[in-house]
Amino acid sequence: MKRIVLIIGGGIAAYKCLDLIRRLRERGIGVRAVLTRAAQEFVTPLSVGALTNDRVFTDLFDLDDEREIGHVRLSREADLIVVAPATADLLARMAQGHANDLATAVLLATDKLVLVAPAMNPRMWHHPATRRNVRQLEADGIQFIGPEAGEMAERGEAGVGRLSEVPKLVERIEAMLETAERASSSGSSKRAAQKPLSGRHVLVTSGPTHEAIDPVRFIGNRSSGKQGHAIAAAAAALGARVTLISGPVALPDPDGVEVRHVVTAQEMLEAVQQTIPADIAVFAAAVADWRVASPGTGKIKKSAGTSAPKLELVENPDILKTVAKRAPSRPALVIGFAAETDAVVEHAVEKRKTKGADWIVANDVSSARGVFGGDANSVHLVTAAGVESWPPMSKVEVAEALMVRAAQHLLSSQIAV
Ligand SMILES: Cc1cc2nc3c(=O)[nH]c(=O)nc-3n(C[C@H](O)[C@H](O)[C@H](O)COP(=O)(O)O)c2cc1C
Repeated sequence: MKRIVLIIGGGIAAYKCLDLIRRLRERGIGVRAVLTRAAQEFVTPLSVGALTNDRVFTDLFDLDDEREIGHVRLSREADLIVVAPATADLLARMAQGHANDLATAVLLATDKLVLVAPAMNPRMWHHPATRRNVRQLEADGIQFIGPEAGEMAERGEAGVGRLSEVPKLVERIEAMLETAERASSSGSSKRAAQKPLSGRHVLVTSGPTHEAIDPVRFIGNRSSGKQGHAIAAAAAALGARVTLISGPVALPDPDGVEVRHVVTAQEMLEAVQQTIPADIAVFAAAVADWRVASPGTGKIKKSAGTSAPKLELVENPDILKTVAKRAPSRPALVIGFAAETDAVVEHAVEKRKTKGADWIVANDVSSARGVFGGDANSVHLVTAAGVESWPPMSKVEVAEALMVRAAQHLLSSQIAV
């Protein structure tokens, strides 16, 4: 029998765990429950124990427990650790590596996969401290489900903060139990299981394109390639096979990534088409919208008395749209970038629809932000579910958070490797 340790935090949504336990047990999954001190204010160990049909664990210093079944053994005997609901405080303690109660001691001692289902007031969820803690935990390999948008228990409150619904939790727990089983039967460690993109192929475009005016001049843009290159490196660090298609940049090729260097939009499209199939395609390159219809074959000369040459421009191929609308072999997750100088979110929401992308990462590239060429980025993630505004981060942090989210998306949509 598969077995999870369910850590119940002290939030108003703790009562939903009673239903979660019932649904898991119906599916033949054993549940051992750990209640925080605060959780016992919301649900009693008696009702939880009646549903788990097992002892309920509450105290780190229960000597009997330490002899019989302490925190290390609790973790060792589980296939997966689930924290639901995870309070803001519990996330903070986890991110800091505390072990000052049974819940955090189990979480720090475990070598098993951990799934966290947060639930809290939307202002707590959006607070920079919670955002920081979530980012840290994601970087530590902890997986998240929710929270969802909707009405809060407090009258008149709405926003992102609701515990994911029980059927969704059950589905994700079953998927993660399968991942854990695959990892242990193939003899790979938790480390391998924590490489959630292993077996996946990720395609990333990065940098600008240069469109020739003549052999020495070109139309280009200020993209440095830092964000796209960081995404390729982050995907590789999560175990993916990565193909990076890069326009002309001054950056070294990231380690562990196959890089194809191109110059023009047409070359970039060709390289993308040759690279597909891919599970995830991320279009971070700033592709020139137009190219010169007939570039000069020799250097266009400036001579006295002649007027400036007139350049006729033609539209370049739309690489994002071509791939997003491609059938067959459309990548399971197509992510575009929108660099805007005004109405950033509105344009990104529109772009997601017109291009057929799954997600758009929108960033404000007005010169005051210093995004082009800089190391920091402030982005909004636009998905079918809505818009998330991420706090300012480094481009490396944006890349890591984006790839963790992409991996979780593939896992939750159960796309077979
Ligand atoms: C009525 C009430 C409801 C609460 N609901 C939540 C909640 O939904 N999410 C949350 O993060 N904290 C909530 N809290 C605050 C936590 O109970 C508090 O931070 C506690 O220290 C969490 O402990 P734990 O993380 O060990 O379970 C609530 C507190 C009260 C009094």
